[in-house]
This record gives sequence, structure tokens and C-alpha cells, in this order.
Amino acid sequence: MELGDVQEFFAGKTILVTGVTGFLGKVFVEKMLRVQPDIKKLYLLIRSPNIGLATQRLHVEVFRKELFKVQRAEKGADFDSFISEKVVAVVGDVSLEMLGVKDVKRNEEMLKEIDIIVHSAATTKLDDRFDTAMATNTMGALNVLDYAKNCRKLEILLYVSTAYVCGEPKGLVIEKPFFMGQTLKGGSLKLDIKLEKKLIEEKISELKAENANEETINSVMKNFGMIRANLHGWPNTYVFTKAMGEMLVANMKDNLPLIIIRPTIVISTHSEPFPGWIEEVRTMDYVVDKYGKGTIRSFVGVPETVVDVIPADMVVNSMIIASVARSKNLCRSLIYHIGSSSRNPFKYSDLIDDMHCYFTKNPWINKNDRPVHVEKKLTLFSTRMDEFDKNKGTKMETAIELYRPYGLFEGIFDDQNVEKLRMVAKRVVDTTFNFDPKNIVWKDYMMNVHFPGIVKHSMRSKM
Ligand SMILES: NC(=O)c1ccc[n+]([C@@H]2O[C@H](COP(=O)([O-])OP(=O)(O)OC[C@H]3O[C@@H](n4cnc5c(N)ncnc54)[C@H](OP(=O)(O)O)[C@@H]3O)[C@@H](O)[C@H]2O)c1
Repeated sequence: MELGDVQEFFAGKTILVTGVTGFLGKVFVEKMLRVQPDIKKLYLLIRSPNIGLATQRLHVEVFRKELFKVQRAEKGADFDSFISEKVVAVVGDVSLEMLGVKDVKRNEEMLKEIDIIVHSAATTKLDDRFDTAMATNTMGALNVLDYAKNCRKLEILLYVSTAYVCGEPKGLVIEKPFFMGQTLKGGSLKLDIKLEKKLIEEKISELKAENANEETINSVMKNFGMIRANLHGWPNTYVFTKAMGEMLVANMKDNLPLIIIRPTIVISTHSEPFPGWIEEVRTMDYVVDKYGKGTIRSFVGVPETVVDVIPADMVVNSMIIASVARSKNLCRSLIYHIGSSSRNPFKYSDLIDDMHCYFTKNPWINKNDRPVHVEKKLTLFSTRMDEFDKNKGTKMETAIELYRPYGLFEGIFDDQNVEKLRMVAKRVVDTTFNFDPKNIVWKDYMMNVHFPGIVKHSMRSKM
């Protein structure tokens, strides 16, 4: 595969993208517009009360972000007209049938024109309300699949899942789909998605009948998600509902050309459009943020844990190449693990050393303009109950519980399908579409790219 093949494939194509106000969605849109200005149109689905506000969200939350500075500089005064020419904001919501697109004329046009759907929207909170996560991550995936089936000339449906749908396994985790009804507990237990939906409806009715206030409903529905997830063997509501979403699309796709991308933990861009772009603090960066700010000295985990992280630009590159490879029949795999653990593992102990090294040299400056000095390295605990006890009833207890499965994770993500993809696209992977984790020099990336990126883009306004 050559660069020309990629450009030729996307030239004149129309793509519907969900989740563009989110981290990964933006990086995808930026790359697409940069490498393929001949794309016909990008329909970007945005939650909003009306089209005016959707368009405003798009400009403020997407195109005005620093992420687009390279294209702004390249296109100069033409940037805004280029965006207006290529991009169409669509009011919608993946939790609704036909994605809640109410504008009939627009909907008809979309169904006629769309060639590719990239579904990145999700609720990514590990412990969101069960009803919200089910509607967004599970039914949302099904709604996107139904929409795709209604598109007259769809070539690819690319669904962004997560590698952690696997739960808490040990050893090599294979790139294989779930079968319908599968649980991680095995045995005779079956997962019935309709039943899960019914239980949610019953729980909400019960709460309403009791006149429960919003705060109580939130808390009960959050707990309920975790209970149901744990019952079936998943550690939290997020991965449970994402797994059910995968189950539905993989088993109900019929002949639709489906690709499921399972990234691990997505962190700041490695090199494109520039190194170190990231939004918000989450998963691994929760620890970096809190350690840098001097608010934690210890956290849950073991030094040997492989923290599977992957830069956002590599995830997006793999999404683009998987689509081209599938359409050209070069690679027809359904599932791709996009991570680093099997080819270039980065350990928790490396993270601890690098954080210590970085924040002792570059202390975090707090809101009073004072440097926060971190003296000791972060210590890890896995079974020391005193650490858990010390944090009982605090926000830290919730964080420890949520991140425990990842701090103690013992799986390695096999990526043979991704390796095949890299092979068929070797020339472009070596140049414009790098997604080879072997190219990451972790210490250099953490010290010079990722940590400065978090400090600049995510930690800045927090404390
Ligand atoms: N970030 C990671 O480390 C990571 C790792 C593995 C997999 N993933 C997967 O990658 C995808 C993107 O993740 P991300 O980090 O970019 O997430 P994110 O920053 O949390 O963004 C989520 C996006 O989904 C949209 N969304 C949520 N509910 C929606 C709904 N009902 N209808 C339409 N849009 C909705 C949000 O829109 P609003 O702005 O309106 O809320 C936002 O644009 C997700 O599918 C996630 O599961 C992420």
C-alpha cells in the first residue's frame, strides 16, 4: 500500500463521524482533513438542541483547538472556508434510533451519500449511570449499526471499542469477537442484553415511584451498573457496556463490512500533527496528575504491571489504514488491538521513575505560583489494606477501586491482526501513517512529549 492508495481511497468519499467533540474523534478529523483534502464531506454528529448551537460547538470545541494549528498555519486565511466546504454539523444522539437525526432532508442526503461511518462516541466514565452507559455504549452501537444498514452505499463501518472489554484476564488476550450472550464468568451464566435493559427500566420506575431525587437516582444507577458488570465478570460499567455494544454489532452485522478497533489507553500524540497534544486527565494520567500536583504519594498497582498506553495519532493512523486495507481486500480482520504491551511494553515501574524524574526537574506550578516539590517516588500498594483503610470514604477510595483492575492488570494484548495490517501497509506505516509502537522510545516520549503535553493541555487549569 502506498500513500497514493490511501489518498485515492478517501478522495471524493463522505464520512459520518460520531464523538468528534471528544479526544480521539478530533484527532481523527484533523488527520483526515490534513492528509486528504480531497475528501468530499465529513458529517459530524453532535449533541445539541439545534443546528446553530451544534455548529458553534463544532467551531469552539473542535476547530479552534490548538490541535488544528498546523492546518491553520498551512491554509492561513483559507482555513475557515476549507472547513465550511468540507464539514457539516449534524444534530444527533447515538442513543436514539436513526441517531436522532430529525432534519428529514439532511437525513435523506446522508443516507444517500455516506461511504464510511466512524463511530467513536461513547460515555468513557468508568462508573457512569447504568442507564446512560447502556443507552450510549450498548444501544448506541446498535443504533449506529442500524443507521449503517440504511445507508445506500456504505463501504465501511468502523467501531471504536476498547481493549479492556476483555475484563481482567491473565496472559495473552487474543483479538477475537464475543459471541452473543457471552459473559466473562463462563459456566452456565448467560448475558441477556434485553434483560439488562429491562432491569434498568424497572429500577428507574422503582426510584420514580419512591419519589427519589436526582442525586439518589444518580447514585443508585451508578452502583447498579457496577453490580451488573461485576456479576457478569467485568470490572466496571464502561467496559461492560462497551463489550455489550461490541457483542451486538459483531453478531448483527449481517454482510456489513465492519471493523472493530480496540485501543488500549489512549494518550497524547506521538508526532502528528505535533507531539504532546491531549485533552483531559484520565486513566493512567490520573496518577501523573495527582503525583505531579503532590496530592498522592502512593497508589494501587504493582511495578511489573504493563501499562498498555498508545498515542492517539497511532490509533487514528491504524483506523485509517484498516479501512483502506479492508476495502482493498488486503486485510479482512474484524478486530484490531491497538496497543503497545506485546511489542514494546511500558511498565508501571517505568512510569514511576519517569514521573519522578520529570516532576523533580519540572515542578508543577500551583495556582499561587508556587512550585510543588515531589521528593519521593510514588509507592505502589496492592494488598496493603492499611492504604485502602486510610482512604475509606474519600474520593481516593473510589479512584483506587476504579483503577485497581488496571494497576494490577496481568494481560498482554496480542496484536497479530494489527501486525498483518502493518505488513500490508509497510510503506505508509513507515511514513505518513505510523502505528508501530516499536517506534516509541518510552523515556524520551514520557519526558519530552507526554508529561509536558499533560501539563500544558490538561493539568493547567485544574488546581
Ligand atoms: N481515550 C481512551 O483512552 C480510550 C481508550 C480505548 C478506547 N476508547 C474509545 O474511543 C472512543 C473515543 O474516546 P474518547 O477518549 O475520544 O472519548 P471522549 O473524549 O470522552 O469523547 C466522547 C465523545 O462521545 C460523544 N458522545 C457521548 N454520548 C453521546 C451520545 N449519546 N450521542 C452522541 N455523541 C455522544 C461526546 O459528545 P459530548 O461532547 O456531547 O459529550 C464526545 O464527543 C470511545 O468509543 C472510547 O470508548 C478510548
